[in-house]
Amino acid sequence: MIYLKTDEEVELMRESNRILGMAYGEVAKAIAPGVTTQQLNDIAEQFVRDHGGVPSCLGFENYPKAFCISVNEQIVHGIPDDKTVLQEGDIVTVDGCVLLNGFHSDSAYTFPVGEISEEKMRLLRTTKECLYKGIEQAVTGHRLGDIGFAVQDHAEKAGYQVCREFVGHGIGRDMHEDPEVMNYGKRGNGIVLKSGMTLAIEPMILMGRRNVIIEDDGWTARTADRKPAAHYELSVCVRNGKADILSTFDYIKEVMGDQFI
Ligand code: MF3
Ligand code: CO
Repeated sequence: MIYLKTDEEVELMRESNRILGMAYGEVAKAIAPGVTTQQLNDIAEQFVRDHGGVPSCLGFENYPKAFCISVNEQIVHGIPDDKTVLQEGDIVTVDGCVLLNGFHSDSAYTFPVGEISEEKMRLLRTTKECLYKGIEQAVTGHRLGDIGFAVQDHAEKAGYQVCREFVGHGIGRDMHEDPEVMNYGKRGNGIVLKSGMTLAIEPMILMGRRNVIIEDDGWTARTADRKPAAHYELSVCVRNGKADILSTFDYIKEVMGDQFI
C-alpha cells in the first residue's frame, strides 16, 4: 500500500530530515584518521536524541546500533564498533533514519577520510550523480522504472555496477513503505509516480564486481572482491515537474567546504 502524504505531513518529514542532516554535519566535523565508527555513531545518535528524535535503525529487526557505518568494501549495514578505526584514504558511509513527530527520515552519505585516491573520488562523484539522476525522474507521471534506469545507466556508463540486493523504498510513518525503489530497471516500467509519494532513493554503486557477501554478524554487506562501494541517499517527495528533496546534505557541505564532493 502506497500512502500519499499531505503537504502538512511532508513538512513534518522535512523537519525529521533536517535533524538527520544536521547530525551528519556533526559527523562531518569528526571524520578523520584515528576515529572509530563507534565514535561517529555516538556523535550522530547524541545529536538526534538532543533534538527530540529517535534513531529508527536501533532495534529494527534487532539491528544493534543507531546508525549503519560502512567502510571501503562494505556496501551497507556495517555495524559501528570500537575496533574499526578510520585510516587516511578510506571512504566511510554513514546511513541512518530519524523518527520525529511520527515520521521517519532516511539519508546516507559516503565521506572521504583525509586524502583519497582519484579512483575512489570518481566512485563517490559518480554515485552521487546517480542519486541525482534518479531524483530527476521522481516526478508526477513518470514511472518507477525511470528512476532505476537513470541510476543504472549512469553507473554502468562509468564502468561501475549497481548493487541489486538492496533497494530504496517508500518512507513515512514507517521507515520502509511501498514501493521498493530499485536502482536498476527499464524506462517506462513499473508503477506511475503520483504527487505526494515519498521515496528514499539510495543507489549503492560498486567499483568492481556485483557479488555481495553478508558477514557473520548477519548485517554487514560487503563486495565479494573487496573493491570499494559508495552509497548516497536522500528522501524526496514526488511533485509535478520537479522532485522536492526532503533530506539535506547542506550541513555536511558547510563543514566540508572546498572538500565537499
Ligand atoms: N537507511 C537504511 C535503509 O535505507 C536503514 C537500514 S536500518 C537497519 O533502509 F536497521 F536495517 F540497518
Ligand atoms: Co533507506
